Amino acid sequence: MIADLILYNIGTLVTGKELEKKDEKDMENIEVLENGYLAIKDGKILSVGEGEYPKELQNEKTELIDVNGKVITPGIIDSHTHLVHYGSRENELPLKIKGVPYLEILKQGGGILSTVRNTRKATEKELYDKAYDVLNRMAKFGVTTVESKSGYGLDLENELKQLEVNKKLNENHPLDLVSTFLGAHAVPEEYIGNTKGYIDEVIKMLKVVKEKDLAEFCDIFCEDSVFDVAESRHILNEAKKEGFKLRIHADEIVSLGGAELAGEIGAVSAEHLMAVSDEGIKELAKNNVIANILPATSFNLGKNYAPVRKMINEGVTVALSTDYNPGSCPCENIQLVMNIASAQIKMTPIEIIKATTINAAKVVCRENEIGSLEVGKKADLVIYDVNNLNYIFYNIGINHVNDVFKEGKQIVKNKELCF
Ligand code: NIG
Ligand code: FE
Repeated sequence: MIADLILYNIGTLVTGKELEKKDEKDMENIEVLENGYLAIKDGKILSVGEGEYPKELQNEKTELIDVNGKVITPGIIDSHTHLVHYGSRENELPLKIKGVPYLEILKQGGGILSTVRNTRKATEKELYDKAYDVLNRMAKFGVTTVESKSGYGLDLENELKQLEVNKKLNENHPLDLVSTFLGAHAVPEEYIGNTKGYIDEVIKMLKVVKEKDLAEFCDIFCEDSVFDVAESRHILNEAKKEGFKLRIHADEIVSLGGAELAGEIGAVSAEHLMAVSDEGIKELAKNNVIANILPATSFNLGKNYAPVRKMINEGVTVALSTDYNPGSCPCENIQLVMNIASAQIKMTPIEIIKATTINAAKVVCRENEIGSLEVGKKADLVIYDVNNLNYIFYNIGINHVNDVFKEGKQIVKNKELCF
């Protein structure tokens, strides 16, 4: 077969293909090729290897790109974001700096509830335009797939409004979106003191969201003074019956047992886990629940980092994402997350690439299509303007991505959008 596009002279090609583990603790088990090539046809990987590309892949129509010894990885997958919302919360910054806790601001009607007020007032177009711009910036940082949650509507009309925006963005923006229903993100103002009443509403919403096919996953904020473990179990069980895949904001601030619940209920992932217990880590490992770690949130809240090395040592699959949202982490920059993971959590460059590609693909249940550069998978890839992988983690705080291809089409060229 003849390729549409061949990238050659790739100094370091992290294909992300999973290799057999040396032992249970090995999270560096992905393929890295030196002096590699990639051939692409119809948006998919046709051939990948080391050295000279096979000349039979090429004819006069094939586009050739000399990568000049630079680094390529699979497209980055940001598998936990609260992309669609309106307004911002910089007014809370002085409170945060003075030490007022995140959950205290929420209790006072700020935090998530303040974004709910703004999101309810916003039109679908306003939400769409704001999120579209964010996706553009994420693309420039090397992201090719984004998970996006509702959770700032907290009533049927406004949750659907957010989810419709996810759908339209997925249709119109070159990045792929994976949609999650997070109706149980907080108890809205009109239900304060009547959590049970709101849970009944969420369960009704689940059915409508499913009927309209607007979300693949159901998520919940299982946290002290938000939804406790019993309430979370109840909602997630109902979601499971409706056919949703499950994920949980678990043990973010208080160690409630969210990780244990994720294991018990068969969630795909448990997210945050800054306060996870040793028992919780064991349950994640035993039940193959992915730990989706969001270190820019720890950084921004001035809190501890999740015990990632402990998790890796216990054989837990670890992913990394931004948690982009208007409160705890207004950060669109996955490379900052990667830098923090290196400097603060002591993950190695290869572990971090694995956590943001193939493991993140598993969080969104797309590991057969994306997350590694293997024959037949989508040609989603990133060219970095560096000569070796370590440099990305050494020279912190700048964007090292030069070019991005989504399904074989270039969407970022010389650091600028080109679609
Ligand atoms: O993942 N923790 C709950 N939800 C978000 C924050 C949402 C917000 O503050 O608006 C998170 O950190
Ligand atoms: Fe979150």
